[in-house]
Amino acid sequence: MKTDTSHLANNSIGQVFTPLKWAEWLINRWGIFDAWLDGAHICDPTAGKGAFPLAMLHIARQKGIAITPERLSQLTLIEIVPSHLERFRENVKREFSVDFPTSQIFCQDVITEAHAGKYDILVGNPPWANFGNLPTAYKARVQPFFLQEELVPDRQKTLLGSSRTDIAALVLKVALGRLLRENGVGYFYLPTSLFFGDGAHSGFRNYSARSTRNGIVSHRDFAIDTVYEFTSTKVFDSVGTSYCCAKFCGDTRQDFPVSYFKESDSEWVEHKALPLENPTDPWRIVKDLDELNMDTTLEVRLSPEQKPRQGVNTCGANSVFIFDHKPSHLPEQFLYPLATKEIWRQNISLPCKWILLPYDPQTGKPLISAEIEQWNTLKAYLKNAEEVLKSRKGTLLRSAMNRGNWWALLGVGPYSFAPFKVIWQAYGKSDFTPVVLSSVEGQMWQGNQAMHAFIPCWTAHDAQRIKTALEDPEIPTLLRQLNGAGKCNWAQPGKIKKILAFD
Ligand SMILES: C[S@@+](CC[C@H](N)C(=O)[O-])C[C@H]1O[C@@H](n2cnc3c(N)ncnc32)[C@H](O)[C@@H]1O
Repeated sequence: MKTDTSHLANNSIGQVFTPLKWAEWLINRWGIFDAWLDGAHICDPTAGKGAFPLAMLHIARQKGIAITPERLSQLTLIEIVPSHLERFRENVKREFSVDFPTSQIFCQDVITEAHAGKYDILVGNPPWANFGNLPTAYKARVQPFFLQEELVPDRQKTLLGSSRTDIAALVLKVALGRLLRENGVGYFYLPTSLFFGDGAHSGFRNYSARSTRNGIVSHRDFAIDTVYEFTSTKVFDSVGTSYCCAKFCGDTRQDFPVSYFKESDSEWVEHKALPLENPTDPWRIVKDLDELNMDTTLEVRLSPEQKPRQGVNTCGANSVFIFDHKPSHLPEQFLYPLATKEIWRQNISLPCKWILLPYDPQTGKPLISAEIEQWNTLKAYLKNAEEVLKSRKGTLLRSAMNRGNWWALLGVGPYSFAPFKVIWQAYGKSDFTPVVLSSVEGQMWQGNQAMHAFIPCWTAHDAQRIKTALEDPEIPTLLRQLNGAGKCNWAQPGKIKKILAFD
């Protein structure tokens, strides 16, 4: 076993292991076992404890097929954590009484380290983590590879906006670009966000991976051929995001529509997937191509200041900033009504929650310490929470806090204090119901993090105009086609921005 990366032994990056049953399912669905018997060389580039090679051996036993040294030499595992590989060898020894060849096991970082082998088939389940959640030191190590693979346009974006880019996107590009033989194929379990996420995954959807031959860098096309989205079956117990498995073809240009199967009453129902407009856009899913006969851009005149926004984000300090009752011990001018589901459920506009924003509503900037000094109760309250607030994480927040404003929040700007908001529920819903909110006792309503999105408006008339335009029934139809119903990205600003025209 090659273990030249033992310094990475304690790395724990996106570990969600595939249950044996589901490794077998994927192998059987795509005839990977027969391809193995026919001589294909197969590699799991992030193999964990080897669920996929183990499943191959189990299928061989079920079918009474001999596990020969030659067949074993066609299975390769690459994995960063040595103990997983050791466990795999022990399991193979215990269950099949064979020594899995150490020459086929590579303990290495598939992203940052070179690997000489090339394979006919790649199979696996790449790590489930986004860039922003990687260990800090590791982030710095892999950042150049995010750039090389064009997953983010520039260095700044990797650090800020694109921190939502999945490391699975990087592992896939690296594996498809460097490890696949010409015209090879890949089969992976994946988060569906690679196909439906806006900004963060458009770099994945250039369907091109970097490859180097004899020191010369070039690009290889890859195409997604078929997808199966699990909507009710739980393949991975611990995964909250939506996932699928997909077949990738190397050295093939991406063609649309892609065959997209969705689970319905334990059956796989075929749909078609196509990008919204441009090739790198998120996909739309339709049963029938006739459903595409609708506009994908809605003409609602919006000024540049009226970009759709998410609500306020306390960055994990809700207990400091959010209150169930308006607190009488804090100055009223910094307390704002916070939108809650009751607004849509009961059509009421009395606040059920309040949020503290120590901000100047004129500039949309955090108060400076000299201003906070003028409010004894506010000063004492924040001082009491100083430790909690200073220990909050997040690159964007840190840059605000580095300026000394440790009471800053994310998603607050002049738009937060616009007198009207056309606001809707953006997370986990399947209906799109914009409402106009203005203020309570002169204090403007605020949205709550990703739960709500809004368009700021400076007159009641404008707010009404935008609300009416957003009530177009084609919007929820399009949102459903963008596959967000019931998911966290249902009607997030990025999506709505894509379908609205700006001045
Ligand atoms: C989601 S798990 C899946 C493991 C296995 N393929 C399975 O299906 O059970 C991802 C694995 O990738 C490993 N990993 C993460 N980053 C890696 C890297 N850069 N190079 C190699 N392996 C990595 C993790 O340690 C973990 O075992």
